[in-house]
Amino acid sequence: MISIFQKFESEGILGINRRIGEFILPNNPREHYPLVDDKWKTAELTRQFHVPMPKHYGVVDTFGGIQKTKNLVKDHPGFVVKPANGGMGNGILVINKTEVLENGNVLFHKSDGRVLLEKEINHHISGILSGLYSLDGNSDTCILQERLECHPFFQEISFRGIPDIRVIVYLGYPVMAMLRLPTKESGGRANLHQGALGVGVNLLDGMLTHSVCNDKLIYVHPDTKQTLSGRVIPHWLSILEMSSRCYDMSGLGYLGVDIVLDERRGPLLLEMNARPGLGIQIANRMGLVKRLKLAERIVNSADGPKDRVHRILEELKRN
Ligand SMILES: Nc1ncnc2c1ncn2[C@@H]1O[C@H](COP(=O)(O)OP(=O)(O)O)[C@@H](O)[C@H]1O
Ligand SMILES: [Mg+2]
Repeated sequence: MISIFQKFESEGILGINRRIGEFILPNNPREHYPLVDDKWKTAELTRQFHVPMPKHYGVVDTFGGIQKTKNLVKDHPGFVVKPANGGMGNGILVINKTEVLENGNVLFHKSDGRVLLEKEINHHISGILSGLYSLDGNSDTCILQERLECHPFFQEISFRGIPDIRVIVYLGYPVMAMLRLPTKESGGRANLHQGALGVGVNLLDGMLTHSVCNDKLIYVHPDTKQTLSGRVIPHWLSILEMSSRCYDMSGLGYLGVDIVLDERRGPLLLEMNARPGLGIQIANRMGLVKRLKLAERIVNSADGPKDRVHRILEELKRN
């Protein structure tokens, strides 16, 4: 059977093999992968480069340490449990509220409305440590992270969780972007694989274009019933500049950057991906190849993040 990507390759849609052979392998040195595959290492890197990220309340890295989870989050009723080496939203639990009962038992309220007991959270963390959700299948560590609040721009269009903005950055130049909105199905996570919505974004001004959910074109958010196209993402230029800075930070030439918007702090880096998915092309109804070739034509090693954003936007305006 011919895949949707093979069918459209002739129209400039980047397929999986070409993505790896022509763009990822030559531009992403293997020794840099741990910087992005491990979210704990990414956090250290962002401190050096002064790139803001959500706060980390602590890390659980031994089975014996699981018991201390309750203490690490005791001052933070909302938090996120996350495998350091995870991907595609797997293993992420978004806890909206912690409730301490009179008998001392603790209940954790998830963003999808379900409630977990302390022993269930601990069991989940032990799964993370065993490597159940890790990208390479090896044992992992568990990050306890600040739970972000939805920016007002997203409040009426998103269902419960936190949307993120995925930007593909090639040779330091942002080339394509997509907004991802959590749905009821995706359980507070903005990953397309979990059933989140992908919305194409006009790179020039941050205006939303087409939407896809589970690979089908849709016209309103399936849960909030809101129309999405025509809305403009706030802080657009800062989002592009932050994504471009991630190239200097990671040393990866082909990169997927996930950014979230915080009402008070503006754009925050959530994570970077060394092998970003290709679904962004469906949401934008546009192939990546032309944009990647454009970046190759205009690349200038003297450019910093601001210059790179400026340069590619000027090129896009001209075409
Ligand atoms: N700190 C957080 N607060 C609220 N939601 C979060 C937080 N971290 C992650 N999420 C949700 O989970 C999704 C996946 O998180 P991410 O860190 O990108 O991990 P993965 O590598 O599994 O994609 C995000 O797009 C967001 O919707
Ligand atoms: Mg992600």
